[in-house]
Amino acid sequence: MKDSTPQTIFLSDYTPFGWLIDSVHLTFDLAAHATRVISRIAFRPNPDAPAQQFFLHGKDLTLINARIDGQDIQPDISDEGLSCPVPEGSFIWEAEVEIDPTNNTALEGLYVSNGMYCTQCEAEGFRKITYYPDRPDVMAVFTVEIKGPHPVLLSNGNPQTVGTGHAIWHDPWPKPSYLFALVAGDLVAHSDWFMTASGNKVDLNLWVRPGDEGKCAFGMSALKRAMQWDEQVYGREYDLDVFNIVAVDDFNMGAMENKGLNIFNSSAVLASPETSTDANFERIESIIAHEYFHNWTGNRITCRDWFQLCLKEGLTVFRDAQFTADIRSAPVKRISDVIDLRTRQFPEDDGPLSHPVRPESFQEINNFYTATVYEKGAEVIGMLKRLVGDSAYAEALELYFARYDGQAITIEDWLAVFEDITERDLTQFKRWYSQAGTPRLSVKETYGSGSYTLTFTQHTPPGSYSPDPQPQVIPIDVGLLNANGDEVLETQTLEMTEATQSFTFEGLASRPIPSILRDFSAPVILERDSNNDERAFLLAHDTDPFNRWEAGRALARETLCAMATKGSAPDTRYLDGIRSVLRDKALDPAYRALMLELPTQSELALFMSDRGLTPDPAAIYDAVQSLKQAMAEQLRENLPTILDANIVRQEYKPDAVQSGKRALYGAALALMSRLDDGSLAAMQYAQADNMTLQLGALSCLLEVDKGALELGAFYDQWQDDRLVIDKWFALQITRATPDRAVAVTRALTKHPDFNWKNPNRFRATLGALTGNHAGFHAADGSGYELLADWLIRLDPVNPQTTARMCTAFQTWRRYDASRQALIGAQLDRIAATPDLSGDVTEMITRIKA
Ligand code: ARG
Ligand code: ZN
Repeated sequence: MKDSTPQTIFLSDYTPFGWLIDSVHLTFDLAAHATRVISRIAFRPNPDAPAQQFFLHGKDLTLINARIDGQDIQPDISDEGLSCPVPEGSFIWEAEVEIDPTNNTALEGLYVSNGMYCTQCEAEGFRKITYYPDRPDVMAVFTVEIKGPHPVLLSNGNPQTVGTGHAIWHDPWPKPSYLFALVAGDLVAHSDWFMTASGNKVDLNLWVRPGDEGKCAFGMSALKRAMQWDEQVYGREYDLDVFNIVAVDDFNMGAMENKGLNIFNSSAVLASPETSTDANFERIESIIAHEYFHNWTGNRITCRDWFQLCLKEGLTVFRDAQFTADIRSAPVKRISDVIDLRTRQFPEDDGPLSHPVRPESFQEINNFYTATVYEKGAEVIGMLKRLVGDSAYAEALELYFARYDGQAITIEDWLAVFEDITERDLTQFKRWYSQAGTPRLSVKETYGSGSYTLTFTQHTPPGSYSPDPQPQVIPIDVGLLNANGDEVLETQTLEMTEATQSFTFEGLASRPIPSILRDFSAPVILERDSNNDERAFLLAHDTDPFNRWEAGRALARETLCAMATKGSAPDTRYLDGIRSVLRDKALDPAYRALMLELPTQSELALFMSDRGLTPDPAAIYDAVQSLKQAMAEQLRENLPTILDANIVRQEYKPDAVQSGKRALYGAALALMSRLDDGSLAAMQYAQADNMTLQLGALSCLLEVDKGALELGAFYDQWQDDRLVIDKWFALQITRATPDRAVAVTRALTKHPDFNWKNPNRFRATLGALTGNHAGFHAADGSGYELLADWLIRLDPVNPQTTARMCTAFQTWRRYDASRQALIGAQLDRIAATPDLSGDVTEMITRIKA
């Protein structure tokens, strides 16, 4: 089962496949260790392709027999697939292969999770099921017959014959193999239906293991909201008689948009008030929407090759963010997305793993399901929409769906509809797709006789992918305020295209205070020689909710940086400003809760290294602790009122209003715990009837070094619920002090419930350690060593999840020489592991470069 030496694949080498497929017929005879897959595929020459040898991908398959037009053949078989001579015109390919789903621990292809058969084929898992041109530009109509002793047998499309032991599914929509799916098992359905705008009734089913029926209602309602929203906002209707979702416990990612049969990590779909937090509910709602939206942006219109991954992912993330902003709070969603971008995408784009939104080469495509492709990819679409305006965006999307339905296309095709609708030349804009790195945007201002000028300079640090970055098109939303905080210029989008460019505003009575990059109008790092007085002013007065939050965040970053590097005291302008915001009842509680959140420690580390400082994780941790203490002291008088006003007494609902109140309550409780030694938190823990409060209170207790009893009780209460026990693992590590984080993690890896082959549990444990910034970066290197030990152990079992977690080392060059040496040694140790997977080899090589 070993990968061969990794090969680099280039975008510029794209060639169409030599044949088209008229139909695919698959028969599965399911058996734990010896599943038989019989394929019957009708090939016909592709008139648009150059002459080539007939080659089908195939991995870890045992070929039983193969026939062309009924004649037995003996193909040439390699690790990657097979080839053989074929007739000149059309022909029928038939093959029978045997696979072993039970020993498939990589969770790619057909595998077994808790006795249930399921598949994950994106990106290149179908080749582990049968021999096939496993590439997204080969689209075909599939009929799938399943034989197996299971009550539920599912595949894509519409059911034709369905019963225990036998089922036939037919998917009328041509699709690439990565969207193939099959599920078989002892499952129960939570069912509902949806009437499309054109009056087609769609059966909806959420399939789960018996016992999980009580965790389906929210996911189902989210699905119906998403279906309705896509009709109303994008005019997209669902196109089959049935839509199935299946929850699976062992899954490498969040979820997968297989046509008509979405497969979800159970953590991304199962929810109940008792077992899930508000954050879980919101994430589930957005993932359900995301996978559903793929039906048009991904499935009906798909990617020509995997370099175009952002074509479907960037657009679908953008669409799911619009959905969440629409049905919840737009500013809160925008702020949360920017926090996420800065936590995951900025570090990626600033280090050795930096790559363009559309990469031009890769070894293992699974390593490119990144924050850059997904989240920066969505930001790029947001910029495009801002530049062309809402109505041109809507027209371009209409044209997109009309022009490309049923095709596998490229980013050039995507941009062409915008060029056609707006007659804009998007050549320069396209650099957002081809250039890596986060642009730094600096700004200078001058004022005289009523005229105010902002001069921007953009600079993108060169990296290995983009050694000589060129100026990009940057939409900069700007508003101007006067000294009273009144808006003297409403938000305008400035379109910056030059390396340095000035914009002048005339007729101003006095020197204005600028509010720059409102709504985070571009994914850049704004470097402004501003001072904390101006930030405090914007925190108090900015009329743009994003920039008002950003002013508070910038003040917090500044004061934390000064505290960590110079031992300064907390800035009173921050403390005073935060108090005013917190007391402002006109502001949404969810927004106030975000205001109370401090920058993450890794965000501070990036901020410092951007200023030429070497971040000291222990000093950053201490600064955060003392600022939290100072905030608690500052708010001593206000906390009781806030707690009282935001306790939710109604029946639990995971909606925006209630969850906003609970978020503010939780943030206030954390501060209160620093003043009362956790006594209120302990009381709330004892009374909690929902997981948001229960876990929140436990977190407060652990943060003030209390809660040992509660931690034990929590385990006893929830030991039979895998998703809740994941939280129990993660929280202890997240809340551990830096000196204990490694020891706590190590002890948990010895816990009988540490089922390390389950990706969720592995992430809840080792992933949580990498999220504990100061703990992971313990000066003795013990965090690095523990992570490396487990990466080496997991790699032969599940290379994809292992490779993904190697990213914890991507920021290593920003730390001091001693830490760099310690990390370097672990990278070398991983690299030297015999039979290391291609996935991890690529990651370690890039990180070390
Ligand atoms: N397309 C899925 C999504 O909705 C992600 C699947 C990625 N799978 C993988 N093995 N890389 O975003
Ligand atoms: Zn997606």
